[in-house]
This record gives sequence, C-alpha cells and structure tokens, in this order.
Amino acid sequence: MTIPSLAVCTLPSSSSLFPSESTPQPWSQRFESALHPAIMAFNASISFDIALIEYDLTGSQAHARMLAHTGIITPAEASSLAAGLEQIRQEYRRGDFQPGLEAEDIHFAVERRLVELIGETGKKLHTARSRNDQVGTDIRLYLHDQIRQISAQVKQFQQALVSLAAAHVHTLIPGYTHLQRAQPLSLAHHLLAYFEMAQRDGQRLGEIAQRVNVCPLGSGALAGTSFPIDRYYVAAELGFGDVYRNSVDGVSDRDFAIEFLCAASLIMVHLSRLSEELILWASEEFGFVKLQDSCATGSSIMPQKKNPDVPELVRGKTGRVFGHLQGLLVMMKGLPLAYNKDLQEDKEALFDTVTTVKACLEAMTILLTEGVEFQTDRLESAVAEDFANATDVADYLAARGVPFRDAYQVVGQIVKACLAQGKLLRDLSLAEWQGFNPQFEKDIYGAIAPRQVVAARNSYGGTGFTQVEAALQEARSHLDASPPPTT
Ligand code: ARG
Repeated sequence: MTIPSLAVCTLPSSSSLFPSESTPQPWSQRFESALHPAIMAFNASISFDIALIEYDLTGSQAHARMLAHTGIITPAEASSLAAGLEQIRQEYRRGDFQPGLEAEDIHFAVERRLVELIGETGKKLHTARSRNDQVGTDIRLYLHDQIRQISAQVKQFQQALVSLAAAHVHTLIPGYTHLQRAQPLSLAHHLLAYFEMAQRDGQRLGEIAQRVNVCPLGSGALAGTSFPIDRYYVAAELGFGDVYRNSVDGVSDRDFAIEFLCAASLIMVHLSRLSEELILWASEEFGFVKLQDSCATGSSIMPQKKNPDVPELVRGKTGRVFGHLQGLLVMMKGLPLAYNKDLQEDKEALFDTVTTVKACLEAMTILLTEGVEFQTDRLESAVAEDFANATDVADYLAARGVPFRDAYQVVGQIVKACLAQGKLLRDLSLAEWQGFNPQFEKDIYGAIAPRQVVAARNSYGGTGFTQVEAALQEARSHLDASPPPTT
C-alpha cells in the first residue's frame, strides 16, 4: 500500500497581513520560508477547533464592542467588525465557511476571512488581544454552554429513574454486599440510589460552571496590555460572572477543564455501575429484567441471543472519559507558565468527553424509559428463597432483650442447621425456633416474611416503604423545582 504524501497547500494571497505564496502565515514577516506541509498539518487545530467557531465569533464581537466602548477603535469600525463577524457566522451556518489547514486554527481562520470581507478594518480586531486569552475565552464559553446542556440531560435521566422507581415501590429485589445476597430491598430504593448519585452530579456541574464562568480576555499573551481596555465590560457582555485577577494565570489555567473532566468521569462511573447491574440483571442467571427489542441487539450467529449493547457500550466508553482526565492532568503537570502549545491538546479531550457523556446520558435515559422490563415474578421468588432475612431474626431477638452480638451468634447456628437440612428459615417449626432460643414466638414467621423485612427498615433513608415513598416525593419536588427542558 502506498501512503499518499501531503499535498502542499496553495494559499490565497488576500492581504499583506495574511498568507500569500511567499509568506504563508500571519506571523511570516519574520519568517523566510514556508512551513513544511507535514508540520503545518501537525500544528493545525482547525480540524477540531472549528467546533468553537460560534463562541469565537461571539467573543470577537464583544471584544470589538469593548474596543469601541473604550475609544480604542471608532464606533464605525466596531460596527463594521460586528457585521463582518456576523457574516462569517451566517456563512458557517450555511456550510460555506470551510477553512483549510493553512488557517492553522479557528482564530486565524476567522480573522483571515474577516479581512477578506471588510478589508483593512478587519486587521484592527486583534488589538489588545492574543490568541492565548482568546482561546481561553472560547473554551470557557463552550464549556459553560455544554455544562448547561449536560445538566439538563442529568435531570432527564433522573426523571426516568423516578418514573421507574414510582412503578416499583413494592417490588422487592435482593440487595447485595460483596455480590452475595444481603438484605431485600424495595426496587425503588435501589433505583433511587442512582437518583442521588445523579443529584450530586448535577450539583457538581453547577459548582464547576461557576469556576468556568471567569473571563480571561484582556490577559493578552500573558502580561496584560498597554491599551486602556475594560475587562469587566467585555466579561459582562459575554455573560461571565468574574474576570481572572492575574493575566499569567488567566492564559495558563485549565483547572476548570480538569474539574469538568472529573465531574464527567463521575457521571460515567455512575452510568457504568448502573450498566453493570443491568447487564447482570438481564442475564439468564439473574433474570431480573427483560430487555425490550427497541434497546437490545441480536447476534449474527446465535439466533437466541438478545444482547445488552447499550449498557455495555456505556460501560466501555467510561474508559475513554477517564483517559481524557488522565491525559489532561499529565499534560498540565509539567507546564511552565504561561501559555504553551501543549494546551491545544485540551480541546479534543473536552470535545470527546462532552460528546460521549451526552450520548451515554441520552442512551441510558431511553433504556430506563422504554428498554427494561423488571420481571416481578422472578424477583418475588428471588427474595423468598434465601437467608436475606437472617439479620431480621437477630433483630427480633435483640428487640426482646437479647444482646445483639449474642443474637447474631444464635442466628448463625440456626442458619448452619438450616443449611445442613436443606431448609429455609421459614421452614422451621416453632418448636425448632424455641429450641434455639425461648424468646421466639409465632410472630417470628411474620417478622421474616420478605415484605415485612423491607417494611420494617423504616429508619430515615432506609428501604422501608414509608421512607421510599417520602424519598420519591422529595425527588419529584426537586425535579419540579427545576424541571429538565422538554427539548
Ligand atoms: N490553537 C491554539 C490553542 O488551541 C490557540 C492559541 C495559540 N497561541 C499561540 N501562542 N500559539 O491553544
């Protein structure tokens, strides 16, 4: 196989500032020869940072307004810049703005097109600004927007959990520790555990959004600027809540991006744990859920198969989000102040994380809404056929004055005897119970029935039905207070 070599780019020579055949880059007055085509491709971020274009245009329009507001450019120049930038936005939305590699990045691409469109005035846009504070502004605007969208998706996911939980308050499911049957639970209680995780995810995103919402514009390349800019004005124009106090920090900081990747990783941890449970529950061995055809796939060779591809993919995609977090942490750890080109690597990590988390939240929300059917008969028998009520026997004795540790030992003997005889606790006669401890009365049978075992755990936050109803109510009022958008 032959690998085609990179074509040498032929560049338009639209102005003296921007590329011509002999001086292909905006900085080229200082340079004698053109960039090697492979290095040009290696250096360029336009193939992915085009995703920032709307934010870049909005940021530039606000910067232009600030330049006029402070008298650095005239109002007429600002209007011309604003109109040119708006035209680029329309071209992009129509699909007519497709900068090539020679543009290097979205910031140069926009500026070059602006000069083509409006001429000399276009060259004034970059006054009192550097790509370093510009790119920082763009990714903060992008991330703020994405966090808002992801938060809305988290709420939709929570809504799906609440609806499913509401249908299963009285469905019992074995609860596990060490993946060994432990104590029975209300299925709603189990599902609402994921609601709580998602609740923290939403809170975390909200907290991070505040730290994303700080404007670096005006930091310049690293040292600020000699122009009389108004940083608070431009920050307010863009909806930022604050400005960076230190220009070096302003162009070097990516803490907010790492925090976002942490929050995204935790969202994925939660989705992945739920996925793992659904995969187990859908197996023949558990048989707790049936996957609906709209959310399951078949095998190419085994006609009987119905595979849980959705939760498997979510579990699988979790790794790449963790990878992006790790990648950004390692990228940052050795960077001297201030801007270094390494920082260009933040974008693909962020973009892929955003795409992945959004896709996974959407898929899991659909799966919960229409893709799983709990097998209540199977669950009913599962909770009745084990020793998950053993703690309740110990509690029964403890409530009648036997110290819990002694009660625990007695129940250990009872379980051992049952196992030897192939019996469950409910199969013991009253005489057998009383042989272990005289405190046992007829009401022991009611006390160890699975439904009573669950109902009795009525401590705050426990699985007792009254608690679960209250938790559902609280979850609903949280969602009602700030409902997810309908679109
Ligand atoms: N494409 C660059 C990035 O993503 C923009 C900033 C470039 N700044 C510079 N000094 N080369 O980080």
